[in-house]
Amino acid sequence: MEVTVFSNCWVSRREFLRAGSGLVAATIMLKSSPGIAAAQREYKISPGYARAALKGGDGPIAEVWAYDGRTPGPEIRLRKGELARIVVENRLDEDTTVHWHGIRLPNTMDGVPGLTQPPIKPGESFVYEFTPPDAGTFWYHPHADSLQQLGRGLAGALIVEEPEPVEVDRDLVWVLTDWRLDTEGQIVPGFGNPMEAAMSGRVGNTVTLNGMVSKDQSVRSGERIRLRLVNTSLARIMALKFEGHRPVVVATDGQPCDPHEPDGGRLLLGPAMRIDVIIDMQGAPGSRHAVVDDFYDGLAYEVTGLSYATDAPLRENPVEAALRLPNNPLPQPDLGNAERLELVLQGGMMGGGMMQGLGGMSGDMAHGHAIWSINGTSMKGDGHADMPPLVTLAGGQSHVVTMRNETAWWHPMHLHGFSFRILSRNGAAVPHNQWADTVLLAPRDIVEVAFVADNPGDWMLHCHVTDHQTTGLMTVLRVGDGKGKT
Ligand code: C2O
Ligand code: CU
Ligand code: CU
Repeated sequence: MEVTVFSNCWVSRREFLRAGSGLVAATIMLKSSPGIAAAQREYKISPGYARAALKGGDGPIAEVWAYDGRTPGPEIRLRKGELARIVVENRLDEDTTVHWHGIRLPNTMDGVPGLTQPPIKPGESFVYEFTPPDAGTFWYHPHADSLQQLGRGLAGALIVEEPEPVEVDRDLVWVLTDWRLDTEGQIVPGFGNPMEAAMSGRVGNTVTLNGMVSKDQSVRSGERIRLRLVNTSLARIMALKFEGHRPVVVATDGQPCDPHEPDGGRLLLGPAMRIDVIIDMQGAPGSRHAVVDDFYDGLAYEVTGLSYATDAPLRENPVEAALRLPNNPLPQPDLGNAERLELVLQGGMMGGGMMQGLGGMSGDMAHGHAIWSINGTSMKGDGHADMPPLVTLAGGQSHVVTMRNETAWWHPMHLHGFSFRILSRNGAAVPHNQWADTVLLAPRDIVEVAFVADNPGDWMLHCHVTDHQTTGLMTVLRVGDGKGKT
């Protein structure tokens, strides 16, 4: 039996076992043997040091940290409901882990050092095994020394395929990554600047699309494209506009929603967030249309351009097929009987250059002390042993969580292990049945989300602006096993 190989690092079960977990070359490509069901996907990825032409072909070569020598790392493609086994071999000189962002998986596979697993030491491996219950667009990244490891290039897309995908001509992934490069094209050191941490975080000066400052993307008139947008930046928030086009949002953070056009045609994508859109390419043959990010006032730039081939349109009329993605098996929270939790986000620089509250901790900023807090507590770093949970949520129970941003900054707030329904923002119901694992809060926003706490364990909740996370905008929610001994 021949199986489709989606990546050069997917190896068959049998070859994998024969070679032993530490020895599989990342690049072998094999057919699976007769009788071996293709019901399990095997990957091996190795974080290490590499060089990358972030600005394209003849541009400067940057020293990066990368999975399998490339940034973004290899695209991992799994299937909904099928077991995945991913070996991570650490070729860095420091501890690492891999977090499978957005996947609802067992707590021991969540990749938080100290909290859910011991860190993977240099030269050592760790085997992650889980069965993704949901199809969708996810991503993976380290959860150790996150500022540097993510900021120097360790991140990749993780696609969980639907058994019956929607009808499109092409299914594309755009991994969008922000970098701070110097005039030689090298990554500027100095991660963890306390001034930046108290403000917007380390926003860089160069955005790459799939690892390179983008040249135009070729499209054809009449084609329908599913585009999976992933923001793997440390801190940059993006607001994408496809000039002359009307992208329809079909999923947020991997979870299907009611197809809809975004407000003002702008796709708001904070760090760690994903949006799947379907776009009917209705431009004229030979035309060009910019894709612009205008999130920061006065700093709009072109992310890329859509460049139409001169070929005649692929079809006369737009495709009729439905846009809705098949549902994932998400448990619907029972809002009438939900327990309530309020999370108050505080800290950071306020107007007039003053730090907010935090019991006088502002004087310690330079010593890596807390700049931010959640309900008055400040967990820092990446996750570590002995992080006491903020609360214990009754297992199996529905919970409504209100997040109150009392700061002057934006925060993409992320919960591990769950997808939550976004109920309301500043008192107004959020339409289109949107689910997420990361919700972007504007300054002063109050957002309500709901989920069923059906997955026991200690789960991180943090801002995905990495500087904010590592300086206190992080906590742990413990979910009990639902048997009363929480
Ligand atoms: Cu992508 Cu703890 O996060
Ligand atoms: Cu996560
Ligand atoms: Cu934040």
